[in-house]
Amino acid sequence: MADPILTVKDLVIEYPRAGETPFRAVKGVSFDVKENEFFGIVGESGCGKSTIAKALCGLLPITAGSAQFRDVPAHAVQMVFQDATGSLNPRMTIGQTLAEVLSVYNLCPREARAEKIQQLLDEVGLPGEVAQAYPRELSGGQCQRISIARALAMNPRVIIADEPVSALDVSVQARVLNLLADLRLRRNLTILLISHDLAVVRTVCNRLIVMNAGEIVERGDAKTVFANPQHPYTQNLLAAVPDIAEAY
Ligand SMILES: Nc1ncnc2c1ncn2[C@@H]1O[C@H](COP(=O)(O)OP(=O)(O)OP(=O)(O)O)[C@@H](O)[C@H]1O
Ligand SMILES: [Mg+2]
Repeated sequence: MADPILTVKDLVIEYPRAGETPFRAVKGVSFDVKENEFFGIVGESGCGKSTIAKALCGLLPITAGSAQFRDVPAHAVQMVFQDATGSLNPRMTIGQTLAEVLSVYNLCPREARAEKIQQLLDEVGLPGEVAQAYPRELSGGQCQRISIARALAMNPRVIIADEPVSALDVSVQARVLNLLADLRLRRNLTILLISHDLAVVRTVCNRLIVMNAGEIVERGDAKTVFANPQHPYTQNLLAAVPDIAEAY
């Protein structure tokens, strides 16, 4: 937990607009994430969470400031998205999807692939037969486990999970979050969890930032922030969290 694995400094991200000044979605954000941390980015819809996530993965250009991983090659930063089912090729079995990742990135010799796929399924808590299934035959939670397995196939050091459980039922949410928490420990991963839902972040994150309209309004140790929110925005967010927090 010494040096940060990710340092974000004065990050500004703008979206161009035809004939107008660009829209500034992220307005000078600084934070760092330590190795093996479970770090939360929370805030209401439109506050800039996904914009930051995409910039961290190189999917969006940075307008100003910087976001740098320390000694982490680009392929070792993997994303997991909200729409797990939609992100899987409906015409490929789960086994074929995982085999494709392993072959395209040359991650394991052909003869070892089948075994590697079984190991990945096991790691995300799915039975081996799932390799023969198509995405439509799986539940949302199972598809999200496959997205996580696909990310794990790349031997990531960092996983950026953008609303990974917001499409799932509350009971399934808890299980997927627990899986991420287990994987973090077993694989020594660093996880950035992005959610509009404080109850989700609260269950697993060590530290978090709270964003509002492109800026960080509060930050700190998760327990402290939840026990004693300083900023009126965070106080309101917490007040709006229904009792589902109790479900975890
Ligand atoms: N491609 C784009 N072009 C222009 N504006 C965009 C684009 N993508 C996002 N925005 C705007 O940037 C702001 C931040 O969007 P972003 O998707 O990062 O929010 P978010 O916090 O992830 O929200 P949500 O919780 O709904 O996913 C919003 O005002 C959004 O309308
Ligand atoms: Mg988003």
